[in-house]
Amino acid sequence: MSIIAVGSAKASPGVTSLSAGLGLSWEETTGRRAVLVEGDGDGGVLAARFGLAQTPSLLELAGTGRQEMTISRLQANSQLLAGQLPTLVAPGCGETTTRVLSPIASRLADGLHRSDEIDAVVDVGRVRSHSPAAEMIKRCDLLVLVAQPRFDHLVPLVHQARRMVAQDIPTALVCVGDRPYPPTEMAKASQLDLLGVMAHDPRVNQALGGGLPSDRRHRRLLLWRTLAELVLRIHNRLQIPAAKHADSNAPAHALWGANTGNCL
Ligand SMILES: Nc1ncnc2c1ncn2[C@@H]1O[C@H](COP(=O)(O)OP(=O)(O)O)[C@@H](O)[C@H]1O
Ligand SMILES: [Mg+2]
Repeated sequence: MSIIAVGSAKASPGVTSLSAGLGLSWEETTGRRAVLVEGDGDGGVLAARFGLAQTPSLLELAGTGRQEMTISRLQANSQLLAGQLPTLVAPGCGETTTRVLSPIASRLADGLHRSDEIDAVVDVGRVRSHSPAAEMIKRCDLLVLVAQPRFDHLVPLVHQARRMVAQDIPTALVCVGDRPYPPTEMAKASQLDLLGVMAHDPRVNQALGGGLPSDRRHRRLLLWRTLAELVLRIHNRLQIPAAKHADSNAPAHALWGANTGNCL
């Protein structure tokens, strides 16, 4: 299994929405099943936002003590987001999430890695050294840093990217929306590989809450198209050894086609 951690350097750029969107689009694009794990130390929002129950959650999973973390235990404590995506929600209270996640994060990452068939998208919220999801970030196959292409998001992104690269954590960038500042400039300044752009869509919660549309025509909505492209790029990247991506000296824009905007 691959662990895709999704987080941000600052503010609230759309980490949770991207995590849910990637999770919902994952199987359709990759043919592999996905699970969504809410590991945000500021507390969970998925249950409240998408009408899920408060339990089961990370709290119940953590309550099973020091037993081995298996996929079946994870599934037993998950709920279906939009009736489609197995999701381990975090308690709404940040202190509770921090208290229950910190001691199990390492075993949870081990358990997720042990399963061959399922990939995990982990919403780690803001990436901080003392984050309760820090062990999951260290062991992830790819950290997706999310930023809005705004000048005030740039400086924190640049610093966070440097910290991640210094720790050998494979990291790439996704922008939410493509204005006012060009996403390619965000990538260039942070020296991160730009995976792509999640469409800015004011109806994002409604769309995600309804799940991946079964009707192919409805999947042509820009939001779902950009999510499918991002899944494809992440999946392709996971097939290639990280060293091939880790040339932090290469400017990020060099990874892009000059005219097509496609990641090469
Ligand atoms: N792609 C998007 N287009 C438009 N609004 C978005 C998008 N992603 C997130 N948002 C909005 O931004 C706010 C924060 O989103 P959320 O995903 O919870 O961010 P984070 O997890 O980074 O705090 C929410 O109100 C959400 O509806
Ligand atoms: Mg969030």
